[in-house]
Amino acid sequence: MVGKRRVVLSLLLRAGVQLVRASGPAILCCTIVALSYAAEPSSAATAESSKMVFPDGAATPSEVCGVCHKATYKEFTQGTGADLHWGAMKLVPSSTALMELDKKSSPSATAHHIAGSDPWPIQARGFERAPNECNVCHFPEAFSYPDAAVAKIERPALRAANRESGITCASCHVTPEGKIRGPYVVDAPHETVVDPRIQTSVACAYCHSDGTRIVGKQTQTFLEWRDDFKNAGLGQQQCQDCHMPKTVRKLAEDFPVPDRVVSRHTWPGGHSFQRLASALSLAITQSKEGASRLTFHVTNIGAGHSVPTGSNRRAVYLTAEVLSAKGDIVASNDWMFAPWMLGRPDDKKHVEEDLKGPNPIATSQADMQGPHATIIRAGEDRVLDWIPSLPAGEYAVRATLTYDLNRYNDRAFKGDQFEIGKATLGIKVSAGSDVVAEERASPQ
Ligand code: HEC
Ligand code: HEC
Ligand code: HEC
Ligand code: HEC
Ligand code: HEC
Repeated sequence: MVGKRRVVLSLLLRAGVQLVRASGPAILCCTIVALSYAAEPSSAATAESSKMVFPDGAATPSEVCGVCHKATYKEFTQGTGADLHWGAMKLVPSSTALMELDKKSSPSATAHHIAGSDPWPIQARGFERAPNECNVCHFPEAFSYPDAAVAKIERPALRAANRESGITCASCHVTPEGKIRGPYVVDAPHETVVDPRIQTSVACAYCHSDGTRIVGKQTQTFLEWRDDFKNAGLGQQQCQDCHMPKTVRKLAEDFPVPDRVVSRHTWPGGHSFQRLASALSLAITQSKEGASRLTFHVTNIGAGHSVPTGSNRRAVYLTAEVLSAKGDIVASNDWMFAPWMLGRPDDKKHVEEDLKGPNPIATSQADMQGPHATIIRAGEDRVLDWIPSLPAGEYAVRATLTYDLNRYNDRAFKGDQFEIGKATLGIKVSAGSDVVAEERASPQ
């Protein structure tokens, strides 16, 4: 009798999954799956043979998991509990049309959820000679975690099926053996394996680092965290502590399970003003009274890695302006902090050779903007000096920090920028200051 019920239960569960596949997150199937489980929770939990399996591995649509893990699914697909925002994106200065997420996606979706449908990376990859080299992180196969101390982070394997779904729940949770990894010992309708490493940074390492550590290069986030932050003793936080804020609730709403500590599946990063605004602090000082020598401090106080981290496309600009007593801008200066595309500084002199390589567009557009300032490492206080040429008088110095998601479209396009820092300082410059003349003659 019990055995028969288990079979029925398992059929119902599988039917639920099929239904979801065919029709998206239908209410009907949620009810079937949830009720059939709730009717006999203990037998479902003990019968290994009746457990749900996920033969499609990382290609399993996230809707399948969302049937039972409702709040997590809502965070994942709609960014509830965060301030994510995906606006229209301009690809390059000459673009006439802007790229927007498809109508099915919420403009506050998480980056992982839309990794297979976000039109920007799709277009960017389309230009390259070896687009599959890009694709591996945007929709990979199920993987085992790398060793936390490994010198080189290998790339994950490229997934063939259901690429449109991008990074699915299964991408991070299904092991190569087909079980679900998680932090708790639970009774679930699918097989689970407790792996405490899911609460550590190695869970993110594969897609958020590429190759060996090269200071200044793009796609180094995990290595930056490990070498500059954790091992340097700057802090104990894992990626999850800053990018998956915690709350207490049931993991699966319709099941007789206790409340547990859960991590919000929102991953605020470059598309979250709150996350960006906490990264850097900005201060201005006048090194010597009466002299026009100004010093700007851009300090990484909030990120467990370099800022900006990740893709070479990101940049932070520091803009400094000196205003006269009347409010006119009498001098200005500008710095760009950005990750290098390759393992050397971006530099205009490499553009010709880039155009013959495997990623001609990605590499040449980066080199065309070089040389530029390097990214600000975890804990670093970057000190920038500037000696504007100013007649004696009183001035206001104004500085702003701007984060740009895509440094390769024009600066005038503000749709992908966030102002993340601001500072002002009143200064007095005295007439005939020797210091000024001397310093201007030999700038550092
Ligand atoms: C039929 C309902 C159902 C479906 C479908 C489902 N789960 Fe679960 N899952 C549960 C229940 C119930 C638990 C146990 C919750 C508890 O005890 O707090 C659970 C637990 C988990 C856990 C925690 C495991 C641990 O060891 O900490 C993870 C992670 C998880 N599920 C992920 C997934 C993923 C990913 C999918 C889709 C591939 C999925 N689930 C599909 C019901 C479901
Ligand atoms: C399977 C590969 C993969 C894994 C594992 C992964 N990520 Fe990501 N992550 C990506 C990709 C790809 C994107 C960018 C998707 C896009 O914008 O198209 C991304 C985007 C992000 C962003 C948002 C960036 C933005 O532009 O807003 C954050 C934050 C982030 N990931 C943090 C994490 C953390 C923390 C972990 C570990 C718990 C993790 N990721 C695990 C591949 C992955
Ligand atoms: C980018 C990787 C990634 C994706 C995608 C992802 N998860 Fe998770 N998930 C994690 C990590 C990391 C943890 C552990 C967080 C912690 O406790 O530090 C986790 C934890 C969980 C847990 C256990 C409770 C908790 O929060 O610790 C459940 C249940 C879960 N995830 C379900 C899902 C479901 C359902 C989806 C899809 C809607 C999903 N996950 C998508 C990385 C991911
Ligand atoms: C102490 C808090 C903290 C820790 C720990 C931390 N981050 Fe971040 N992260 C931030 C802040 C602040 C930002 C915004 C500034 C920036 O983009 O660099 C950010 C930004 C990001 C972005 C956005 C990049 C983009 O291009 O949009 C990604 C991806 C990311 N972090 C991944 C990770 C991963 C992976 C880890 C662990 C290896 C991690 N973070 C550890 C605070 C943290
Ligand atoms: C090692 C993994 C990896 C590889 C390889 C990779 N990416 Fe990404 N990509 C990411 C991650 C992670 C992000 C999320 C933001 C970040 O970390 O800065 C991202 C973000 C992006 C974005 C910005 C998306 C947005 O909406 O903000 C674009 C565009 C992009 N990648 C294009 C490419 C192209 C083109 C290539 C190949 C030349 C490539 N990627 C190769 C991991 C990778």
